[in-house]
Amino acid sequence: MSDRTAAWDAKLYDDRHAFVWQSGASLVELLAPQPGQRVLDIGCGTGHLSAEIAAAGAEVVGIDSSPEMIDKARATHAGVTFEVADVREYRTAEPFDALFSNAVLHWVRPPEAAVQTMREALKPGGRMVVEFGGRGNVGQIVAALRKLQPEFCPTATVPDWYFPSVAEYTSLLEAGGLETRTAWLFDRPTPLKHEDGVRHWVRMFAPEVTQMPSERQEEFFARLEDELRPQLYRDGQWLADYRRLRVVAVKT
Ligand code: BEZ
Repeated sequence: MSDRTAAWDAKLYDDRHAFVWQSGASLVELLAPQPGQRVLDIGCGTGHLSAEIAAAGAEVVGIDSSPEMIDKARATHAGVTFEVADVREYRTAEPFDALFSNAVLHWVRPPEAAVQTMREALKPGGRMVVEFGGRGNVGQIVAALRKLQPEFCPTATVPDWYFPSVAEYTSLLEAGGLETRTAWLFDRPTPLKHEDGVRHWVRMFAPEVTQMPSERQEEFFARLEDELRPQLYRDGQWLADYRRLRVVAVKT
């Protein structure tokens, strides 16, 4: 699931953030891969969903910008080709029948570069099935980080994730020669395991805002949890305020 330049901790990602690929399983059903089809998995992370697509008999290539993720994917899933590649620059001589991407495209800027790659990687009539953070995704978490960052980590900036609306993203696809067949924007409150789930989420996905003297870390995270508890803590469990944009489109 990754396409950012910072190093990912592939083990931590699989241990504590397995929900990222687990929640992508229904997206594989929507893709409905067929035996013999060539499928590109963009931002494949540790390769769990690539392997699931391959299990349907498809020929899968998984790409990810993180060498750590690709090492783990190669070590875990035989029968799938994995490559370290930046989605903005990836090109292939052998176009694909279908493209798949789960929980990655919100890391990619400019989004037009990803759209161009997707168009060029698809055969005419080929389809793309993607899901990532849509407008308002992790809105409470972002608001709390923006509130605390100037006080605790003044030199950092909260990541500028790309969370478009349906209209914005489908217009971008259309301009890039990809015709939307269906698009949804929907809430998916996502349980974060353990009492320290919010801390882990922020350390994994927004580490730049945690760069502060160690003696201030405890105060920062306690204040962050205080900000978020009223909205995101229910029945002894943290729920991240995920909102997904899911799109099926075809290369015209
Ligand atoms: C997401 O999957 O929605 C997401 C993950 C990490 C950072 C921002 C958004």
